[in-house]
Amino acid sequence: MYSASSIDRIEVKNCMSDTYSNDLKNDVLKGLTATQKYIPSKYFYDTYGSRLFEEISLLPEYYVTHTELSILQDTASAIIENFPEGDLIELGSGANVKIKTLLDIAYKSYLADIRYVSVDVSEALLVKALKELVTIYPDLRVLGIVADFTKHMKEIPLDRNKVFIFFGSTIGNFTEKESIVFLKNIARFMGPNDRFLLGLDMVKPKEILELAYNDPPGITSKFNKNILSVVNRELDANFHRDHFDHVAFFNGGKNQIEMHLRANRTVSVKIKKLDLTVEIEKDETIRTEISRKFRRESAEKMVDEAGLRINRWFSDPQGWFSLVELKKSTSYLWKEHLRTQIAQRKAKRVKG
Ligand code: AVJ
Repeated sequence: MYSASSIDRIEVKNCMSDTYSNDLKNDVLKGLTATQKYIPSKYFYDTYGSRLFEEISLLPEYYVTHTELSILQDTASAIIENFPEGDLIELGSGANVKIKTLLDIAYKSYLADIRYVSVDVSEALLVKALKELVTIYPDLRVLGIVADFTKHMKEIPLDRNKVFIFFGSTIGNFTEKESIVFLKNIARFMGPNDRFLLGLDMVKPKEILELAYNDPPGITSKFNKNILSVVNRELDANFHRDHFDHVAFFNGGKNQIEMHLRANRTVSVKIKKLDLTVEIEKDETIRTEISRKFRRESAEKMVDEAGLRINRWFSDPQGWFSLVELKKSTSYLWKEHLRTQIAQRKAKRVKG
């Protein structure tokens, strides 16, 4: 179905398989023995979960995806115009819709020498997405890295100009601390001319937020409960999805949507691969996701702490979502410069 030349342009590196099941074990053990029980939201995304998320992103109530896409359509040429060659590195890419908007512009207007580097945990989805891209864009080279981008940043090639891309406000799934660690980690790999395109979902009226996570057709509920199937399958557990209800609400004190699974009866779950039985009381919840919402000031503070600065700020007319272009902050570049100089001087002293 694909010409040899299009296959030649696809390269895939897998850095995942060795750690995934061990991470899941540790995370579930920690989460289900905590006072507020939780399961980290990254485990939503098995093949079925990723497909459910794609369905969510098509829902009219879930304004996140279509709002971000509309901003991207309006700003793609401004974003891409001063990027003649280099790597577009997308973290947690999933489906292709958003990156295609950027590549369309790059190809139409600038004949850019761009390589698309995609980092995602699902190999099947990644390969499918990359195959589609090389058939659409005749000269595009693509590199897929099957990896957890919170852990495997070292696997990403850094020899060319770079634009890092993190769409969808997925950064909102991290706690404040985690998000700063994550941003710092990317900043470390950025040169003075590199950029970072970050999607941020903004604080807005509670009714709009809560409807987006409580869609009437119930896709988000299915998505939420799917995490139990992942644990059942991977750790040989016996969760019953019918024993839990989907709960999602806006926690105004913390400016975050929280998703939980609330037991509608007393539940006792055996998790064989952990040698663990978990007792859950009626009405007790397992938290499955936080999705933080931002204001301009909180976003500025967050990126500043990570050694980044806002270069350009793009938003929709209602201010519901923001696409923020970040660069490394000058003071941070200075600090790095000084650190290298001091290290060099020390090395000289040792020698002399
Ligand atoms: C893709 C992680 C940003 O937090 O809004 C959608 C995931 N959860 N509906 C989000 C999600 C429930 C989504 N992120």
